[in-house]
Amino acid sequence: MILTEIDHVAIAVKDLEAAIDYYKRAFGATVDHREVVESDGVEEALLKVAESYVQLLTPTRDDSPVAKAIEKRGEGLHHIGYRVNDCGQALASMVAAGATPIDKAPRPGSRGTTVAFIHPKGSFGTLIELVQE
Ligand code: CO
Repeated sequence: MILTEIDHVAIAVKDLEAAIDYYKRAFGATVDHREVVESDGVEEALLKVAESYVQLLTPTRDDSPVAKAIEKRGEGLHHIGYRVNDCGQALASMVAAGATPIDKAPRPGSRGTTVAFIHPKGSFGTLIELVQE
């Protein structure tokens, strides 16, 4: 089995502060990490749950893929991040299994991770992110 953990569940929101506040009030959650990822046009807040995260994600510009996702489908579940030991190897394995990669090769993600996204088409409707710490 290539997957070692659910790294994060990413939820697209319009108002990051409101979403953080809600998770704080509802679950007593605290923000473990916050980062603006310019290349993806997002700001994220990571709330730690055991060894995984809830990733609240908001667009920083109108042409960001997350902005388009919210425009098309509204707020909500955006992608699942699966933790792997070797992102390149996992990507090759997925492609060999018929997956459609969005990233042809692993690239830098937030928190100093290495990531690759896989298109929901061909993956049963789920946008998948492979995450190597
Ligand atoms: Co992610």
